[in-house]
Amino acid sequence: MVDLHLTLDEQSGLARQIYDQIRRAILTGRLPAGTRLPSSRELAQSLGIARNTVTAALDHLVAEGYLQARAGVGTFVSPDADPAARSAQTSRSSPLTPVPLWRGETPQVPVLDGEPPAYDFRTGLPDDSRFPYPAWRRHVDVVVRRSSRYAVYAGPAGPPALRAAIARHLGVSRGLSVGPDDLLVTDGVQQALSLLAQVLVEPGDVVAVEDPGYPPARRAFEFARATVVPVPVDEQGIVVDRLPVRATAVYVTPAHQFPLGVRMSLARRTALLEWARAAGAAVIEDDYDTDFRYGARPIDPLHVLDDSGRVVYVGSFSKSMLPALRVGYCLAPPALLDALLRARFVADWHGSSLTQLALAGFIDDGHLAAHVRRMRREYEQRRDRIAMLLDEGFRPHLRPIPTVAGLHLAARCEGAGHDTVAAWVAACAKQGVAIGSVGDYALGEVEPGVVIGFGAVPVGRIDEGLRRLRTIIES
Ligand SMILES: Cc1ncc(COP(=O)(O)O)c(C=O)c1O
Repeated sequence: MVDLHLTLDEQSGLARQIYDQIRRAILTGRLPAGTRLPSSRELAQSLGIARNTVTAALDHLVAEGYLQARAGVGTFVSPDADPAARSAQTSRSSPLTPVPLWRGETPQVPVLDGEPPAYDFRTGLPDDSRFPYPAWRRHVDVVVRRSSRYAVYAGPAGPPALRAAIARHLGVSRGLSVGPDDLLVTDGVQQALSLLAQVLVEPGDVVAVEDPGYPPARRAFEFARATVVPVPVDEQGIVVDRLPVRATAVYVTPAHQFPLGVRMSLARRTALLEWARAAGAAVIEDDYDTDFRYGARPIDPLHVLDDSGRVVYVGSFSKSMLPALRVGYCLAPPALLDALLRARFVADWHGSSLTQLALAGFIDDGHLAAHVRRMRREYEQRRDRIAMLLDEGFRPHLRPIPTVAGLHLAARCEGAGHDTVAAWVAACAKQGVAIGSVGDYALGEVEPGVVIGFGAVPVGRIDEGLRRLRTIIES
C-alpha cells in the first residue's frame, strides 16, 4: 500500500481535489497499475475530512476505470490505466525550456531495451553470460554486510582500496607506474571525458578527435562548447600530420582504435607526443578494451612514453567486466587531478561506494585477472573465426583490417559507398544480424566499411550471422 501524498488547499470541493490529484498521479505514472491505495477510512483520517468525501472521489475514479475496488481486499490502480497512452494529455505545455545547446534532439539517447538480435555483432558489449556472478555476489555481500561502515558520504576520488587495486592492475597489465593518489575513479570512461571537458576546455577551444571515432567522446567536448576538429586515421592510427597546429586537447584510442580496430604504431605515438608539445595540447588516451590482447607484443601506452606530463589516461571496467557497473578511472597529473576531483564533487560528489568497494575486493581476490584470462581465450577464438571467414569468403567486397586487441574489428568495403553499406546494415537487421557501418562514426570523408563486434556473439553463431551478411552483400 502506498503512502499517498495529497494536499487539500481549501475546505470546499474536497472530493474534486482528491479525484484530480489521484487521477493525475495515475496518469503521470506516479501511481503505477496495481498499486494498492490506502482505505477510505485511512485517507479521511490522514486528511482530517469526512470519510464519505473520500468515498465519493474514489467511487468516481472506479466508475471511470482508473481504480478497481476488490471487495474485502482494497482499492487498486486499474491495470488498464496506462500512463503512456494518456501522457499527451498530462504533458501540459510549460514555459520552461533548456538553453539553446540542449534544445535540439541531439544526442539521441540509444534505446537498449528489448531482445538482443539473434546474431549480435554490436560493438562495445562484453559477454555477460560468462561473467562470474557468484564471485561478484560474494564481494557485494561482504560490502553490504559491513555497510554501516561505508554507508556515509565519501571522497570524490573513490575508495583508496579500489584506487590501489586499479594502480596494481595497470602496473601489471599496461606497464604504468602509478599510485592510488594519481587516480580518480569515475562512472565509466564517459564521465571521465565529461569531467575532463569541463576542466580543460573553454568555449571555442579546439579539440581534435579521430575520424572515424567514438561519438560519445566527441560529444563530451562538443557539449563543453569546444570546436571539435576531425582528424583522419590510417593503418597506423591518427594521422599526426593532419592535426591542427594548435589545440587544447586531442582524444585518441591508440591501443585499439574505435571503430577501425588498428593499433597506433610506435612511430605515430612518438610523433603525436611531439605534436602535443608543440601545440600545447593535452593528449587524452582512452584504453577502454585492451585487457583483451591477442598475441601481439604490447606497445607502451602514450602515458608511459610521455615525459612531459601531457597525457591523461582513461580506462573502464565496462568491457573487462560489465558496462552496467559504470566504473572507470582517470589517471591525470596532480594539478588536473585536483580540478577533476572538485568537478566530480560538483557533479555528483562521488560514485557508489558499495559497487566500488565490491570491485576492489573482486580485483584483490584475483577474479578480474582470472575472468580476463578466460575471456581473452574466448574472444580470441571469435576474432580468429570472423577474420578467417572475412578473408576467405568476402573478397573482393570486404578487406578486413587486422586487429590485435579488443572486442571488435572492421573491414573496408571495396567498391561500395556509405549508402550501400547502410543498406546492407539495414537488410542485416531485418534478418536478425546486427553489424555497424564505419560511416556512422564519421564526421568527414572516410572510407566505407563495416564494423563487427564479437563481445556478445557466441562462436557458434558467427558462421550463420556472417553467411547472412554475405548473402546480402552478394545479392
Ligand atoms: C572508445 C570507447 N571508449 C570507452 C568506452 C567505454 O565507456 P564507458 O566506460 O563509459 O562504458 C567504449 C565502449 O564501447 C568505447 O567504445
